[in-house]
Amino acid sequence: MKSSMPLLLLFCFISLFTLLIVLSKTTPYSLSLPSSSTPSPSNQIRPRLKIYVADLPRSFNYGLLEQYWSLSAPDSRINADPDAELRAFLAASRRNGPLPYPENPLIKQYSAEYWLLGDLETPERSRAVSSVVERVYDWRNADVVFVPFFATLSAEMELGWGRKGGFLKKEGNGDYRRQRDVVDRIRNSDAWKRSGGRDHVFVLTDPVAMWHVRAEISPAVLLTVDFGGWYKLDAKESQSNTSHMIQHTQVSLLKDVIVPYAHLLPRLHSLEDQPRSILLYFKGAKHRHRGGLVREKLWDVLLNEGDVVMEEGFPNATGREQSIKGMRSSEFCLHPAGDTPTSCRLFDAVLSLCIPVIVSDNIELPFEGMLDYSNFAIFVSVNNALQPGWLAGYLRNFSKYQKDDFRRNMSSVQHIFEYDNGSPGGIGPVSSDGAVNNIWRKVYQKLPMIKEAIIREKRKPDGVSTPLRCHCT
Ligand SMILES: *[C@@H]1O[C@H](CO)[C@@H](O)[C@H](O)[C@H]1NC(C)=O
Ligand SMILES: *[C@@H]1O[C@H](CO)[C@@H](O)[C@H](O)[C@H]1NC(C)=O
Ligand SMILES: *[C@@H]1O[C@H](CO)[C@@H](O)[C@H](O)[C@H]1NC(C)=O
Ligand SMILES: *[C@@H]1O[C@H](CO)[C@@H](O)[C@H](O)[C@H]1NC(C)=O
Repeated sequence: MKSSMPLLLLFCFISLFTLLIVLSKTTPYSLSLPSSSTPSPSNQIRPRLKIYVADLPRSFNYGLLEQYWSLSAPDSRINADPDAELRAFLAASRRNGPLPYPENPLIKQYSAEYWLLGDLETPERSRAVSSVVERVYDWRNADVVFVPFFATLSAEMELGWGRKGGFLKKEGNGDYRRQRDVVDRIRNSDAWKRSGGRDHVFVLTDPVAMWHVRAEISPAVLLTVDFGGWYKLDAKESQSNTSHMIQHTQVSLLKDVIVPYAHLLPRLHSLEDQPRSILLYFKGAKHRHRGGLVREKLWDVLLNEGDVVMEEGFPNATGREQSIKGMRSSEFCLHPAGDTPTSCRLFDAVLSLCIPVIVSDNIELPFEGMLDYSNFAIFVSVNNALQPGWLAGYLRNFSKYQKDDFRRNMSSVQHIFEYDNGSPGGIGPVSSDGAVNNIWRKVYQKLPMIKEAIIREKRKPDGVSTPLRCHCT
């Protein structure tokens, strides 16, 4: 008996080893933190995600963008619309070719829709070998159906140029008219009927995108920045006692994909990094609703720490310069919940190599499972953060070595959040490990689950309905 122990151990070891090899082969999309210059496994060729682009008139995407650039007034919500000048120039020059997405920060941060469609519009011959996507022209051959509606741009045009307070109403709301039209067209298609919408992909980065029709598209794969915009609706929808638990009936980490905000600040490369004199930096509005109440309290707790800088900012050029300077001269950047759990500030911090300090007990982040945020960001509970003196003390305790290590790790993931491929209109080869390809990889990972759900749905007897339940994680 005794002599068999080493053999048994050896056997276990070999089994484990084999398992590891098998595992490493069956997860070709896992994106380990690239710590050295070796190419990441995601660069290797594998089957592509076959996407059919649903048939929608141009007026729902690039036509809408044309409409944006021909608006005659600036955005009513900000005092200096950065697009005013370009709008005048474009109107005068009448030039053809792809139009840029708005620079207006309120809109630009949600630009995923523009880059994803740009990738799908790229001709097959210009596609990079590392592209994750293959566009197919018959929906029957597709893994998923992409709905090419610029839902964010549509919502923001109503918010910035529509009737004041008209967004939540349906009458006289141009965005609602477009939402209704898109949903009616899509739900009437054979592709939708085949799957009940489960294999359809909507880009809803703006927390208020598709506001009035969410329940109708909830079976689909929704690309969102987080689930903040869905809480209230969900609570109403599920009609249950939500005092202890938020019942997600429309969104879930299982079926949906969290995508990054587009960063608004330029990338700081690690070679350009300068010594940082501020411990912790935050710029933004002090007052926020709901989850954001923590902001106001944090503000008071941190106000008297000498090496902490908290500033109120403006959404204009001055505010932008202020943010660049603040984020590049601070060790840590605070990321408290705002109206929603995340904001583009997090991605601006990463692009500025400022270590994010995330104070938001309930947050969804992009590309988790491919990326380990704890290698370059710090997560602090709201409870701890609100104890006077605790947070600053905790952050001062990190050694220079640790901070440099965080920053090194961060510089190796900056490109993962980059949407812009430098091509006009975003139409051209995308970087192998950039945001666009990583979003497609995440969609690809949903395929087995989508197939399973469709088959399960098909066997249901006529007239049977099951309650919506998307509440697992
Ligand atoms: C919800 O549940 C909590 C705890 O079980 C209870 O105290 C509260 O009264 C309930 N609210 C409603 C509206 O049922
Ligand atoms: C930005 O906004 C602030 C506050 O409204 C204003 O004082 C400042 O002059 C503005 N800067 C620019 C460049 O517009
Ligand atoms: C940086 O990443 C490596 C893994 O690549 C990890 O072992 C290390 O702990 C990270 N550094 C910090 C400070 O978290
Ligand atoms: C910081 O380090 C000191 C000394 O090791 C320790 O006493 C203190 O509890 C630490 N503070 C926090 C917030 O971790």
